[in-house]
Amino acid sequence: MAKNGALNKASIAKEDEFYTKMSDIEKELKHYKGHFRDKVVFCNCDDPETSNFWKYFELNFEFLGLKKLIATHYEDSKPSYKLELVRDENGDCRIDNQDIVKTPLVQNGDFRSPECIEIMDSADIIVTNPPFSLFREYIALLLEYQKSFLVIGSQNNVTYREIFPLLKDNKLWLGYHSGDMEFVVPDYYKPRATRYREENGIKYRSMGNICWFTNLDIEKRHENLILYKAYSGSEYYEYINYNGINVNKVAEIPCDYNGVMGVPITFMDKYNPEQFEIMGIDGGDMGVSYGVGAELSKEECSELFNEHKGFRRGKLCYRNEAGELQMCYRRILIRRREQSHGN
Ligand SMILES: C[S@@+](CC[C@H](N)C(=O)[O-])C[C@H]1O[C@@H](n2cnc3c(N)ncnc32)[C@H](O)[C@@H]1O
Repeated sequence: MAKNGALNKASIAKEDEFYTKMSDIEKELKHYKGHFRDKVVFCNCDDPETSNFWKYFELNFEFLGLKKLIATHYEDSKPSYKLELVRDENGDCRIDNQDIVKTPLVQNGDFRSPECIEIMDSADIIVTNPPFSLFREYIALLLEYQKSFLVIGSQNNVTYREIFPLLKDNKLWLGYHSGDMEFVVPDYYKPRATRYREENGIKYRSMGNICWFTNLDIEKRHENLILYKAYSGSEYYEYINYNGINVNKVAEIPCDYNGVMGVPITFMDKYNPEQFEIMGIDGGDMGVSYGVGAELSKEECSELFNEHKGFRRGKLCYRNEAGELQMCYRRILIRRREQSHGN
């Protein structure tokens, strides 16, 4: 938790100070027990004095069978420090406070600093809630160094041009819990009309679109999404600018449709790469690059735009029964792996 004034101002502007509650860490981490045995865990956006990530791994060090735990504290513009808990560092056959070592850093604990990158490179698994405003950069660095990770982000990150291709290519995926999450925020954060509360002098803000991103293999990723609806041409609209059908709810993905389906981005929470293949996403240039509206001429695009001001090349749309042009919410394009012989 950064304490100096300059950082506070920067953080207010970027609103990066959202501290993860122990209950949310426990709820997610309980699914990953086997992953941590004999591993070095690095929490690289965590003030070990206050971070519940540090606390969680410290308390569960023995239970998880960790080899080492490291956390680095970020300061705006002054040298910081790292804290390490090393398996029986002092050789007394116990794991306790005596095994914790505090070492000053030369740099400020920025996860991008050479010093922190070196620590990251020496670690096996990176676990934290990184600054929301630096999410793209953060993930890019983890992948560049081929690290295993489990980190918190926003579901909106799924649609980012830097992140979506990684999900599509199965370089990362969503963890167990998606949706609402409440965070502790610093005292200087302003109260909000909604998704805000105060209790015992502590301020909390919640968001409805939080999820975990990981590249650790988890059981959930191999579980099939159970589907009950059969395809019927009268129930699903065909897009006019892409060869595929529109599906408004993940639960309504037809179990027997072999073509491409546009589904809400919350699908990512249910994605099993053995069941479905991700073909692309709609929206903007990215949509066009995956073929949405790619075959429309300039004239056709301007006609559609005149008809509906929300029309954009790359954005999925269809005509309803009345022949009216309808724009879709953001859609991920998927296709069943195992073809059904029903249609
Ligand atoms: C979303 S908060 C989460 C804090 C903590 N990981 C937790 O879950 O409670 C992100 C933290 O990253 C810190 N931070 C901001 N920029 C950073 C950077 N470049 N390198 C490392 N940490 C940074 C912020 O000060 C903030 O405390």
